[in-house]
Amino acid sequence: MKKDTLITAIGRDPKSNHGVVNPPVYHASTITFPTLEEFKTRDRPPYGRIPQYGRTGTPTQFAFEDAITAMHGGHGTVAYPSGLAAIAGAAMAFLQNGDHVLMADTVYGPSRIRVAGNLLLRAGVETTFFDPEIGAGIGDLIRPNTKVIFMESPGSQTFEMMDVPAVCAVARERGVVTMIDNTWSSPYLCQPIGLGADVVIEACTKYVVGHSDVMMGSVTVTTEEHFQQLKGMANALGYHAAPDDCYLALRGLRTISVRLQRHQENALKVATWLQSRAEVAEVLYPALPDHPGHELWKRDHAGASGLFSMVMAAGDLDNAGAAMIDGFAHFGLGASWGGYESLVLPAHPEGNRTATTWPHTTPCIRLHIGLEDPDDLIADLEAGLARYAAAI
Ligand SMILES: Cc1ncc(COP(=O)(O)O)c(C=O)c1O
Repeated sequence: MKKDTLITAIGRDPKSNHGVVNPPVYHASTITFPTLEEFKTRDRPPYGRIPQYGRTGTPTQFAFEDAITAMHGGHGTVAYPSGLAAIAGAAMAFLQNGDHVLMADTVYGPSRIRVAGNLLLRAGVETTFFDPEIGAGIGDLIRPNTKVIFMESPGSQTFEMMDVPAVCAVARERGVVTMIDNTWSSPYLCQPIGLGADVVIEACTKYVVGHSDVMMGSVTVTTEEHFQQLKGMANALGYHAAPDDCYLALRGLRTISVRLQRHQENALKVATWLQSRAEVAEVLYPALPDHPGHELWKRDHAGASGLFSMVMAAGDLDNAGAAMIDGFAHFGLGASWGGYESLVLPAHPEGNRTATTWPHTTPCIRLHIGLEDPDDLIADLEAGLARYAAAI
C-alpha cells in the first residue's frame, strides 16, 4: 500500500464501530472487569493493549498509536501528553543512574536544558553534546557506559542535517540505542527506523495535529522489549494522552500529506525569495540546493516541511527585529509551529550549543510558513524587511 493510501486506512475499523468512519472517543477513568481473575492481572507487565484504567490507555489512544506505528513501520508506539513529555519519557525509559548519553548539539532547547540539564542530571545520567555533522565519527565519543545517542535532524532553529544512517550503523555495532526527534519531518516525510534508528520521537503537536490546538507526543520503537520498557516508564510517570486529543491528532494525521505538500511549496517560494534580499545574509532550509545538508536531506526525506530560519545581514533584535516583527500582518509571534498558519520567532542559537560555535552575531529569525497564499506572505515580509532596514 502506498503512503497516501495507508494514511486513510490506519487507526480505524468502521466494521467494529457501527460503520462509523472514525474511531469513537472513549472517555474513561474506571474500566470494569467481569471476573476477579481478569481484574487481578490487569496492571502487570507485559503491558498490552487491553484497556485497564483510563490513565494507561483507551481504545482511542490505541487507535492513534497504531496509526503512528504504521506510518513509521515500527513495532509499537506510546502516545504522550506533549512532545516534551515524549522526549522525557523515552529518555527515562532507556537511561538510568550511571549511564552516559550523547546528544546532538542542535537539539530542541528543552531537550538540552530541561531533559539533559535537569531530569537526566538529577537521575545521575551524564550528557555529552556532539557536533551534528559528526557522522561515523560518533564512535570516538562512545564510552563503555554510553547507552543512548539522541539525534534531531535537521537541528532545531538552525537546520543542520545529520548523517543519521552513519550514526545509527556505528551505534548498532556498539550496542547503543539511537533516538531521534523527527518532528520537523513528521512521520510523513521521514521514517527514521528505515535509516537505522531504534526510537522515533514525534511532537505530534506540530504537523500531525496540524491545527495549533492540541498538545501530543509519540514514541515509536522497533521491538517488543523496547515497547515494554517505554510503556512501563510511561505508566510509572503517570502519563496520560487525553482521548479527545488522541482523536484530534488522528483526525489531523489524515490530511498531513496535502498539508505538507503545500507547506513545502509555499516555504520554498518564500525561502528562495528571501535569499534574493540584501537584508538577509543566509536562509537555513535544507530544501534549498545550496544548503550544506541538502544532499543528506534529499537522500533521507520525501520532502521538506514549512519551518526554516533566516540570519539577518545586519541589525539587532530589540530595535530592527521588533520593528519588523511587531508590524507583521500574517506572521503571528509565538512558540510552536506545524499548524496551518504562519509564525515568526526569534531564535537564539548562540545560547544553546556547547560542542559547536554559532558563527553569526546578527539576529536569527525562525519562520513557519503556513497555508496562506505565498504572495501575501512575501508582501508581508517585504514590508517587514523595509521596517527592519529603516530601524538599523
Ligand atoms: C523539534 C521539537 N521537538 C519537540 C518539541 C516539543 O513538543 P511539545 O511542544 O509538544 O512539547 C518541539 C516544540 O516546539 C520541537 O520543536
